[in-house]
Amino acid sequence: MCGIVGYVGGAECAPILLDGLRRLEYRGYDSAGTAIFDGQRIGVLRAVGKLRNLEKAVDEAKPAGTTGIGHTRWATHGRPSEVNAHPHLVGDVAVVHNGIIENHLALRARLSAAGATIQSDTDTELVAHLIDSHVRAGEGLEGAVRAALRELHGAYALAVLSAREPERLVVAKNASPLVIGLGDGETYCGSDIPALLPYTRDMVFLEDGEMAVLERGGARITRLDGTLVEREPRYIDWSPVMAEKAGFKHFMLKEIFEQPRAMEDTLRGRLDRERGDINELEIGLDASAAAAVRRVYLLACGTSYHAAMTGRYFIERLARVPATVEIASEFRGRSPVVGEGDLVIAVSQSGETLDTLVAAKEAKANGAKVLAIANVIGSAIPRMADGAFYTHAGPEIGVASTKCFTTQLANLLMVAIWLANRRGHLDADATRALVEDMARLPHLMRDTLMSTRQLVANIAKRYNDARDVLFLGRGPSFPIALEGALKLKEISYVHAEGYAAGEMKHGPIALIDAAVPVLVLCPKDAWYERTLGNLEEARAREAQVIAIATEGDEAARNVSHDLVEIPSVREELTPFLTVLPLQLYAYYVADFKGTDVDQPRNLAKTVTVE
Ligand code: M6R
Repeated sequence: MCGIVGYVGGAECAPILLDGLRRLEYRGYDSAGTAIFDGQRIGVLRAVGKLRNLEKAVDEAKPAGTTGIGHTRWATHGRPSEVNAHPHLVGDVAVVHNGIIENHLALRARLSAAGATIQSDTDTELVAHLIDSHVRAGEGLEGAVRAALRELHGAYALAVLSAREPERLVVAKNASPLVIGLGDGETYCGSDIPALLPYTRDMVFLEDGEMAVLERGGARITRLDGTLVEREPRYIDWSPVMAEKAGFKHFMLKEIFEQPRAMEDTLRGRLDRERGDINELEIGLDASAAAAVRRVYLLACGTSYHAAMTGRYFIERLARVPATVEIASEFRGRSPVVGEGDLVIAVSQSGETLDTLVAAKEAKANGAKVLAIANVIGSAIPRMADGAFYTHAGPEIGVASTKCFTTQLANLLMVAIWLANRRGHLDADATRALVEDMARLPHLMRDTLMSTRQLVANIAKRYNDARDVLFLGRGPSFPIALEGALKLKEISYVHAEGYAAGEMKHGPIALIDAAVPVLVLCPKDAWYERTLGNLEEARAREAQVIAIATEGDEAARNVSHDLVEIPSVREELTPFLTVLPLQLYAYYVADFKGTDVDQPRNLAKTVTVE
């Protein structure tokens, strides 16, 4: 996830671009840049790190000009560095991009063979080369962008500036957001509303497969085939605070609702629906190494540990490799028996958690192969690992992890399917069926969030002064029960415990009375009947029972006080859906209590201490 901005008008554009980028910094902050036409040529300024580094460069260089584009980067292809920062200038063409070009390898090979000198590791520079080649062949900027777009597969929001036509910008969108702002004699573009809000409230939202030419007098939108699109601007009446959080009250809520988009980005280019297979993943293993894996260790902390627990279930069930999941701080220093033939998967949103980093280093020193599953490109754990398989959730601002959890689950399930297939435990038909079902996840998650939001808010309101809350689940729902309890604890400060439902009668059942809400995860899976039995036991002891169950489950409805329904899906996919109402439950309880949801007391987003 990156942020892009553009301006064409009568004012000096550098301050406008920087201001827009500041409002988009939540989308990425590993490098930033601007490209501004100074009357003769395009001047590019780029800086690694936070936006203030670019601000400093702009302050020194003082670029003048009234047409320009800007970018704040969240690395997806190539580590954070100046050469990989946007804008990418090729010939007379400068490009900023948010998204992922799936056919980048084929494009790179083709452009290199044709003699292009490619400087960066990014997919975006390839887009700039493509557009430049069409411009040099004599096409106008609009035609050149249109021709280049026909050669791209994947997600993009693009803004393009050419020194040959400096009175306009050309923008295009597919699967990444792009908003056009209409001012008085000036036109803007940006990745979202907040970037443009101080300048105009009249906005036009570009749809997938559309492009637009922006000039001082307004925007002309067309489809890729050239057909004209007439679209009325919408007046946006958001307050500045609402705008920062895209209209949500807290970043956490925004991130909960971003999960379908984050899932789409994470699956893109990895699931191959046409072939019905998982593409070769960036995991540092080939098929023969997959066959040689003797055992898998999953190491993580906190929410990532709960994802790792679910990953163990995926890997053992599908790939039939023995898997152990370890709290990283417990694994390190206890001389674990780990070494050659072992695959260690270190799971970490930040990629910087010290306990996970040290544990993974210890395993590597003993001869194990280390695969990092991380969200922050170029962070410490992926850097020391043999392979880095990134989630593409974009920056997570809320301390309570939500979208990074579900995208970690996706990466773990893809690794499990890949291992299972390459080790001969999943045949072509079974692999295709899993790939197809996974591809439906963004849509299923969107439906679940929309259908449960109000109901869960009502339930949370009713139970928000409970002092203790229990979460129960079996099999893949057990880590989700733990995750539900952790979410509630960390943001609402309510005492909560997650248990394997089968453990109830070994002690925790003594806690139950009429004042204790019990959230039971009982989707229709191999454990369903037994979990339903636990639900009835809790009910018999007068607990307030809230069931998270498969839609249409009348038996669960009859024995619970509240029923939250999720769509019917195969067992491997239930964790992706059952966790959503639990995130919402924690959020609404905290919100009713008035705690600091995004920055709960005593916690930090990245834990780099032991
Ligand atoms: O960056 P990491 O995923 O390694 O962080 C691990 C934990 O610190 C993190 O998941 C923490 O538990 C979150 N606050 C959970 O919401």
